[in-house]
Amino acid sequence: MYKQPYLIEFPRIGNTMEGYISVAENKTLPFGTNRVYWTYYTPESIRRGGHAHHQLEQILVAVSGKIIVETEMPGGVKERFILESPNVGLYMPIYCWHIMQYTHSSVQMCIANMVYDEKDYIRDYNEFLRLPR
Ligand code: TYD
Repeated sequence: MYKQPYLIEFPRIGNTMEGYISVAENKTLPFGTNRVYWTYYTPESIRRGGHAHHQLEQILVAVSGKIIVETEMPGGVKERFILESPNVGLYMPIYCWHIMQYTHSSVQMCIANMVYDEKDYIRDYNEFLRLPR
């Protein structure tokens, strides 16, 4: 059975007077980290993503602004997540088809279990639909 996407709350250290620090460490993540990348200045009219992965698991965080993430798992379960708290991330398991839309000022940080590998991508939605349920 496939793992499902879910929200993760990171620790939030600090207070309104001094500001906050949030932390992600391998010991509290659902996977070991091998890559961090970030996405920014995406026009609001653009929908990014539109793919799934064979082995990649990742956690998306809107460290600034707001990101709407639509997910679909093999079998057709669709969900919509709104990321707008810097201490909340969205865990996306393998085979999670995802589409993201950003407010212009938003910055998406992504923590991933694997280095970049184009061969790991499923970019053809029909191929995704043919995956076993
Ligand atoms: P892609 O993962 O398709 O972006 P998004 O999911 O935000 O739509 O990647 C876009 C381009 O950037 C693609 O040509 C591959 C390249 N890229 C890397 O070279 N390394 C990376 O770690 C990532 C995430 C993308």
